[in-house]
Amino acid sequence: MCGIVGYSGSGSPKQVILEGLKTLEYRGYDSAGVAILDGNHFKRVRAEGKLNILQEKLNQENFSGKIGIGHTRWATHGKPSERNAHPHCVKGISIVHNGIIENYADLREELKASGSEFHSDTDSELVAHLISAEVDLGHCLFESVLKILPKLEGAFSILAVSADQPDEMVAFKNGPPLIIGQANDAIIVASDVQAIIKHTKEVIYLNDFEVAHLKGSDFKLFDREGKVVAKKFVHIDWSPEQVEKQGYPHYMLKEIFEQPRAVASAIDPHIDLNEHKVFLNRLGFGRSVEELDKLDLAQDYQNTVQQLKKVERIFIVACGTSYYAGMVGKYVIEKLSRIPVEVDIASEFRYRDIVIPENSMFITISQSGETADTLAALRMVKAMRVPSLSICNVKRSTIDREADGHMYMNAGAEIGVASTKAFVCTLSLLNLLALSLAKAKETIDEASEQKWVRELLSSPSQMETVLAYDKFFAKASDTLKKYRGFLYMGRGVNYPIALEGALKLKELAYMHAEGYASGEMKHGPLALIDESMCIVMLAPSDDLYEKTVSNLEEAKARGGEVISIGSGENQKLRDVSKHYLSLPNASWFVNPILEVIPLQLLAYHVADALGHDVDQPRNLAKSVTVE
Ligand code: F6R
Repeated sequence: MCGIVGYSGSGSPKQVILEGLKTLEYRGYDSAGVAILDGNHFKRVRAEGKLNILQEKLNQENFSGKIGIGHTRWATHGKPSERNAHPHCVKGISIVHNGIIENYADLREELKASGSEFHSDTDSELVAHLISAEVDLGHCLFESVLKILPKLEGAFSILAVSADQPDEMVAFKNGPPLIIGQANDAIIVASDVQAIIKHTKEVIYLNDFEVAHLKGSDFKLFDREGKVVAKKFVHIDWSPEQVEKQGYPHYMLKEIFEQPRAVASAIDPHIDLNEHKVFLNRLGFGRSVEELDKLDLAQDYQNTVQQLKKVERIFIVACGTSYYAGMVGKYVIEKLSRIPVEVDIASEFRYRDIVIPENSMFITISQSGETADTLAALRMVKAMRVPSLSICNVKRSTIDREADGHMYMNAGAEIGVASTKAFVCTLSLLNLLALSLAKAKETIDEASEQKWVRELLSSPSQMETVLAYDKFFAKASDTLKKYRGFLYMGRGVNYPIALEGALKLKELAYMHAEGYASGEMKHGPLALIDESMCIVMLAPSDDLYEKTVSNLEEAKARGGEVISIGSGENQKLRDVSKHYLSLPNASWFVNPILEVIPLQLLAYHVADALGHDVDQPRNLAKSVTVE
C-alpha cells in the first residue's frame, strides 16, 4: 500500500530516499515525507500530493546527517494531507508505517488518557507515541520496539529512528513486506526490492515479527523475544533497467508492449522445446521457497505429477484482474482435464462458510503476492490442510512463501497500477496447468498435448502483431472518449476477457463500462443500448462464434456502435461493425491472451486522451495489503 525507504550510509540520504520512493510511488501517491538526521535532530519535510511536490520542497533543504527514513502514502486512516503524511514524530522518535493497526482506536484512547497529544488522524502516529513512552522509561530504541510489538494488532511494516541514537534504525513487520539491502558502505531498507536493486542485489526479507537493528552500515536480526536470528542474503535478478520506462510515455504502455516477452518467460521453464511437451518445473510442493533453486528437477516433477493426480476439485481464489484470469482458468481446466473448478473473489470466499471436499486443490493468483484478502483465503484453507498452489509474480512475496506449491508469472516488475502483463502471463500458466492436469488425469493424448503446446509457443509472436492496434486506438481515442458508456461482451472463455476489458476502462478512464456474457444481454442490459453506447464484442472463431454473432446483431439493431474483435479476415463482422479488429487465427486456448491486448490499448489511449494519469489512476494502489 504505502512505500517505505530507509537509508544509513556514507552517501546522501536525501538522494537515496527520494530515488527509492520514486520507484515505490506505484504503492501509494497521495502524500510523501522524509525525516533525515541534521545535526542532533531528525528534520522532517512532508508534502501532500505526488512525490515531485516533496522533491521541490527538499530542493531547498540540506541535511548534515547520514541517516534518514521516507514514505509515500496511500491513505487508509485520515485523508491525504500534509498533517497525515509520514513520518510521524513524537519527541525524538520518527516512524514510517505501511499497513493498518487494527486496534488503533483502543491504543489511541489509552495514550490520550495518559496525556499524549495527537497531531494527525492516522493510525500510524500512535506507534511513535508508544515507542516514545518506552524511551521515556529509559529503554533504548531497539528495546522499546520489542516492548511495543506485542501491543500492535493488524498489518504493519515500520521503520523507526531516534534522535538519541542518531546512527540507528529499527525495522519490524507483521504482514506487508520489508526488505534490507546491504551495499558496501550503506544499508537500505524498503518495502520493495525496486528501491534497493540500484545499490545492491543481495537482500534479506524480514519475516513477520522479526526485528532488524541497523547501526551505521551494519545490522542484526532478532526474533520478537530479542533472540538473534541468522539469515542468508537472497540474490535478486531484476536489473534496474527493468524498472525504467525505456522511452515509453507511461509504464503501462511499456508493460503492454512487454507482454510477448513476458509470456515467453512465463512458459519457458515449463516447456520441453524438443518434444513440445509440458513439464511443470520447480513447483516444489511442500518445499520452502528457499529450497526451490536446489530441487532435484526430476524428483520434483514426479512429486508434482503425484499431487496433480490426486486432485478431484479445484478452487481458484483471487481479486480483480487476477480473479478474471482465474475465470479463464476455470474454462480451460474443466475443458481439458474434466476436473470441476470453482472460482471465487477472495473477499467473498474468506467469509463464506466454505465447503471443501477431500482431494481438492486451492490456487491463489496474485501479481503482488501481498493482496490481503487472497492471503487470508490462503491461510484459511491451509488451516484446513488443503494443498495450495500460488501463481505469483513477486517471488518470495508473502503468498508465495506461504503456499505449498509455486508457479511464477516471470513478468518482471509491473509498475503501472493497472495489471497487464501479469494477466497474460497468468493465462499462459493456467493453460500449462490445465495441460498438466489433463496429462495427469489422462484426458488428453500426447498428440493433443503437443498441439496445445505449439499453439502456446506461437502466442508471443501473435501478440506482437496484435500490438499494432496501438496506432489505431491512439487515433480513435478522441472519438471513443465521447461515448456515454461501454459494454464489453463475450461468451465462454471470452466472457472473463470482456469483464477484464471493462475493468481496465473503468479504472483508467473513469468511464462507465460493463462486461457481460453476451447470452445475458436480452435479460436486461439490452435496455442500455442506444447510439451513445459503444459495444465491444469479442467474437473470435470458436464453437460459440455463431451465437456471438446473433447477440451482436441484436445489439446492433438497438443502435449501438460496435467494435468487434474476431479471428482473421471476417467480412460478416466487418459489415456489422463500425470497426473490425482482426486477430491472428488461433483457438479458444490462446484467444484470451490475444484479445485482451486491444482492450488494454483501448483503455490506455482513452484514458490518456482524457488527460488522466494512466500509471497511477485515482483512488487505487498497486498492492492492496489491507482489506
Ligand atoms: C486491475 C488490478 C487489480 C488487481 C487486484 C489483485 O488492473 O490490477 O484488480 O488485479 O488488486 O492484485 P494482485 O494480483 O496483486 O493480488
